Amino acid sequence: MKKLSKVEVKGLEAIFYDEIITIASAFSYKKFLRKAIKDMNIKENHSILDFGCGTAMALCNFLKYTKNQIIGLDLGKNMLFEAMKKCHLYKNVKIFNHDIRKKNPFIVDKVFISFVLHGFETLDRIKIINNAYANLKKNGEFCILDYNEFDYIGRPLWFRKLFEHFECPLAVEFINTPIKEILRSVGFNNFYEYYYYNGLVRLLVAKK
Ligand SMILES: C[S@@+](CC[C@H](N)C(=O)[O-])C[C@H]1O[C@@H](n2cnc3c(N)ncnc32)[C@H](O)[C@@H]1O
Repeated sequence: MKKLSKVEVKGLEAIFYDEIITIASAFSYKKFLRKAIKDMNIKENHSILDFGCGTAMALCNFLKYTKNQIIGLDLGKNMLFEAMKKCHLYKNVKIFNHDIRKKNPFIVDKVFISFVLHGFETLDRIKIINNAYANLKKNGEFCILDYNEFDYIGRPLWFRKLFEHFECPLAVEFINTPIKEILRSVGFNNFYEYYYYNGLVRLLVAKK
Protein backbone atom coordinates (compact mmCIF):
# COMPACT_ATOMS: atom_id res chain seq x y z
CA MET A 1 0.00 0.00 0.00
CA LYS A 2 1.23 3.52 -0.83
CA LYS A 3 2.48 5.50 2.19
CA LEU A 4 0.38 8.56 3.03
CA SER A 5 3.52 10.60 3.81
CA LYS A 6 7.17 10.38 2.83
CA VAL A 7 8.34 13.23 5.06
CA GLU A 8 10.42 11.04 7.37
CA VAL A 9 13.65 10.21 5.57
CA LYS A 10 15.63 7.26 6.95
CA GLY A 11 18.52 4.86 6.32
CA LEU A 12 20.32 4.91 2.98
CA GLU A 13 17.91 7.50 1.59
CA ALA A 14 19.03 9.85 4.37
CA ILE A 15 22.74 9.05 4.00
CA PHE A 16 22.61 9.73 0.23
CA TYR A 17 19.86 12.37 0.42
CA ASP A 18 21.88 15.19 -1.22
CA GLU A 19 23.02 12.92 -4.07
CA ILE A 20 19.48 11.56 -4.65
CA ILE A 21 18.00 15.08 -4.81
CA THR A 22 20.79 16.26 -7.10
CA ILE A 23 20.25 13.41 -9.57
CA ALA A 24 16.42 13.46 -9.34
CA SER A 25 16.47 17.18 -10.17
CA ALA A 26 18.84 16.65 -13.13
CA PHE A 27 21.54 18.59 -11.23
CA SER A 28 19.35 21.70 -10.89
CA TYR A 29 18.51 21.54 -7.15
CA LYS A 30 21.51 23.38 -5.69
CA LYS A 31 21.12 26.30 -8.09
CA PHE A 32 17.36 26.45 -7.43
CA LEU A 33 17.94 26.41 -3.64
CA ARG A 34 20.54 29.20 -3.89
CA LYS A 35 18.05 31.32 -5.86
CA ALA A 36 15.17 30.66 -3.43
CA ILE A 37 17.36 31.55 -0.44
CA LYS A 38 18.50 34.76 -2.19
CA ASP A 39 14.79 35.60 -2.65
CA MET A 40 14.30 35.30 1.13
CA ASN A 41 16.12 38.62 1.48
CA ILE A 42 18.13 37.58 4.55
CA LYS A 43 19.97 40.42 6.28
CA GLU A 44 23.30 40.10 8.11
CA ASN A 45 21.62 40.34 11.54
CA HIS A 46 18.75 37.90 10.87
CA SER A 47 18.35 34.83 13.05
CA ILE A 48 16.83 31.82 11.25
CA LEU A 49 15.07 28.67 12.39
CA ASP A 50 14.88 25.82 9.85
CA PHE A 51 11.95 23.42 10.52
CA GLY A 52 12.96 19.95 9.25
CA CYS A 53 16.45 21.06 8.23
CA GLY A 54 17.33 17.63 6.82
CA THR A 55 20.98 17.39 5.79
CA ALA A 56 21.48 21.18 6.23
CA MET A 57 21.46 22.03 2.52
CA ALA A 58 19.67 25.31 3.28
CA LEU A 59 21.55 25.98 6.53
CA CYS A 60 24.83 26.03 4.59
CA ASN A 61 23.37 28.66 2.24
CA PHE A 62 22.08 30.85 5.11
CA LEU A 63 25.69 31.15 6.31
CA LYS A 64 26.45 33.32 3.27
CA TYR A 65 23.92 35.94 4.33
CA THR A 66 23.80 36.15 8.12
CA LYS A 67 26.23 36.22 11.02
CA ASN A 68 23.41 35.74 13.53
CA GLN A 69 22.11 32.43 14.92
CA ILE A 70 20.97 29.70 12.55
CA ILE A 71 19.06 26.85 14.19
CA GLY A 72 18.08 23.59 12.52
CA LEU A 73 15.41 21.24 13.89
CA ASP A 74 14.84 17.70 12.64
CA LEU A 75 14.05 14.28 14.04
CA GLY A 76 15.62 12.00 11.45
CA LYS A 77 18.68 10.36 13.06
CA ASN A 78 20.63 9.99 9.81
CA MET A 79 19.55 13.39 8.50
CA LEU A 80 20.75 15.01 11.75
CA PHE A 81 24.06 13.15 11.52
CA GLU A 82 24.65 14.46 7.96
CA ALA A 83 23.65 17.99 9.00
CA MET A 84 25.97 18.00 12.02
CA LYS A 85 28.84 16.67 9.90
CA LYS A 86 28.49 19.72 7.60
CA CYS A 87 27.87 22.38 10.23
CA HIS A 88 29.78 21.50 13.41
CA LEU A 89 32.58 23.97 12.65
CA TYR A 90 30.24 26.99 12.45
CA LYS A 91 29.74 28.59 15.86
CA ASN A 92 26.49 30.34 14.87
CA VAL A 93 24.82 27.09 13.71
CA LYS A 94 23.02 24.85 16.19
CA ILE A 95 21.13 21.69 15.25
CA PHE A 96 18.66 19.94 17.53
CA ASN A 97 16.69 16.71 17.51
CA HIS A 98 13.19 18.12 17.79
CA ASP A 99 9.70 17.31 16.51
CA ILE A 100 8.44 20.49 14.81
CA ARG A 101 4.85 19.60 15.77
CA LYS A 102 5.92 20.42 19.34
CA LYS A 103 6.72 23.87 20.72
CA ASN A 104 10.32 25.11 20.96
CA PRO A 105 11.76 28.07 22.88
CA PHE A 106 13.42 30.03 20.03
CA ILE A 107 12.51 33.56 18.88
CA VAL A 108 13.88 34.49 15.46
CA ASP A 109 13.55 36.82 12.44
CA LYS A 110 12.76 34.06 9.95
CA VAL A 111 11.35 30.55 10.16
CA PHE A 112 12.12 28.48 7.06
CA ILE A 113 10.50 25.18 6.08
CA SER A 114 11.39 23.44 2.85
CA PHE A 115 9.64 20.39 1.42
CA VAL A 116 8.33 19.39 4.82
CA LEU A 117 4.86 20.93 5.24
CA HIS A 118 3.31 18.95 2.36
CA GLY A 119 4.07 15.69 4.20
CA PHE A 120 1.74 16.33 7.15
CA GLU A 121 -1.98 15.95 7.67
CA THR A 122 -4.02 19.14 8.17
CA LEU A 123 -4.03 19.18 11.99
CA ASP A 124 -0.26 18.72 12.14
CA ARG A 125 0.23 21.42 9.46
CA ILE A 126 -1.78 23.81 11.63
CA LYS A 127 0.32 22.92 14.70
CA ILE A 128 3.53 23.57 12.73
CA ILE A 129 2.24 26.90 11.39
CA ASN A 130 1.20 27.94 14.91
CA ASN A 131 4.66 27.02 16.20
CA ALA A 132 6.30 29.10 13.45
CA TYR A 133 4.10 32.05 14.39
CA ALA A 134 5.09 31.71 18.07
CA ASN A 135 8.78 31.52 17.11
CA LEU A 136 8.77 34.76 15.12
CA LYS A 137 9.53 38.28 16.30
CA LYS A 138 7.01 40.99 15.32
CA ASN A 139 7.38 41.55 11.53
CA GLY A 140 9.24 38.24 11.30
CA GLU A 141 8.69 36.07 8.24
CA PHE A 142 7.64 32.46 7.75
CA CYS A 143 9.24 31.23 4.50
CA ILE A 144 7.60 28.13 3.06
CA LEU A 145 9.45 26.54 0.16
CA ASP A 146 7.26 23.74 -1.18
CA TYR A 147 4.89 22.70 -3.96
CA ASN A 148 2.79 25.54 -5.30
CA GLU A 149 -1.03 25.50 -5.40
CA PHE A 150 -2.17 24.72 -8.94
CA ASP A 151 -4.86 22.92 -10.91
CA TYR A 152 -3.57 19.38 -10.37
CA ILE A 153 -6.45 17.63 -12.17
CA GLY A 154 -5.92 19.93 -15.16
CA ARG A 155 -2.35 18.63 -15.60
CA PRO A 156 -1.70 15.91 -18.20
CA LEU A 157 -2.03 12.28 -17.11
CA TRP A 158 1.72 11.59 -17.57
CA PHE A 159 2.51 14.46 -15.16
CA ARG A 160 0.12 13.16 -12.51
CA LYS A 161 1.38 9.57 -12.86
CA LEU A 162 5.00 10.72 -12.51
CA PHE A 163 4.21 13.00 -9.56
CA GLU A 164 2.29 10.26 -7.75
CA HIS A 165 5.10 7.79 -8.41
CA PHE A 166 7.64 9.98 -6.60
CA GLU A 167 5.42 11.82 -4.13
CA CYS A 168 2.98 10.82 -1.40
CA PRO A 169 -0.84 11.32 -1.45
CA LEU A 170 -0.47 14.15 1.10
CA ALA A 171 1.62 16.11 -1.42
CA VAL A 172 -1.25 15.93 -3.93
CA GLU A 173 -3.63 17.08 -1.21
CA PHE A 174 -1.22 19.95 -0.32
CA ILE A 175 -1.28 21.24 -3.91
CA ASN A 176 -5.06 21.58 -3.56
CA THR A 177 -4.87 23.28 -0.13
CA PRO A 178 -5.36 27.07 0.11
CA ILE A 179 -2.43 27.42 2.50
CA LYS A 180 -2.74 31.23 2.76
CA GLU A 181 -6.19 30.80 4.35
CA ILE A 182 -4.64 28.67 7.11
CA LEU A 183 -1.80 31.17 7.53
CA ARG A 184 -4.31 34.04 7.82
CA SER A 185 -6.34 32.15 10.42
CA VAL A 186 -3.19 31.79 12.54
CA GLY A 187 -2.39 35.54 12.31
CA PHE A 188 -0.09 36.01 9.29
CA ASN A 189 -1.27 38.85 7.07
CA ASN A 190 1.13 40.01 4.33
CA PHE A 191 2.32 37.56 1.69
CA TYR A 192 4.76 37.55 -1.17
CA GLU A 193 5.62 34.71 -3.50
CA TYR A 194 8.33 33.51 -5.89
CA TYR A 195 7.99 30.62 -8.32
CA TYR A 196 10.46 28.03 -9.61
CA TYR A 197 10.38 24.99 -11.91
CA ASN A 198 7.67 26.51 -14.14
CA GLY A 199 5.42 27.30 -11.18
CA LEU A 200 5.54 23.80 -9.69
CA VAL A 201 7.41 25.08 -6.64
CA ARG A 202 6.80 28.27 -4.66
CA LEU A 203 8.52 30.26 -1.96
CA LEU A 204 5.62 31.69 0.02
CA VAL A 205 6.68 34.34 2.54
CA ALA A 206 4.13 35.17 5.23
CA LYS A 207 4.71 38.13 7.50
CA LYS A 208 3.77 38.20 11.21
C1 LIG B 1 11.93 15.90 2.39
S1 LIG B 1 13.03 16.20 3.71
C2 LIG B 1 13.43 17.92 3.47
C3 LIG B 1 14.72 18.28 4.15
C4 LIG B 1 15.17 19.74 3.96
N1 LIG B 1 14.23 20.68 4.49
C5 LIG B 1 15.44 20.00 2.50
O1 LIG B 1 14.67 20.75 1.88
O2 LIG B 1 16.44 19.47 1.99
C6 LIG B 1 11.93 16.24 5.09
C7 LIG B 1 12.65 16.41 6.43
O3 LIG B 1 11.69 16.63 7.47
C8 LIG B 1 12.12 15.91 8.62
N2 LIG B 1 10.95 15.67 9.47
C9 LIG B 1 9.89 14.86 9.21
N3 LIG B 1 9.00 14.93 10.20
C10 LIG B 1 9.52 15.79 11.12
C11 LIG B 1 9.06 16.27 12.38
N4 LIG B 1 7.89 15.88 12.89
N5 LIG B 1 9.86 17.12 13.06
C12 LIG B 1 11.06 17.52 12.56
N6 LIG B 1 11.52 17.12 11.36
C13 LIG B 1 10.77 16.26 10.66
C14 LIG B 1 12.73 14.64 8.03
O4 LIG B 1 13.58 13.98 8.96
C15 LIG B 1 13.47 15.21 6.83
O5 LIG B 1 14.77 15.59 7.17
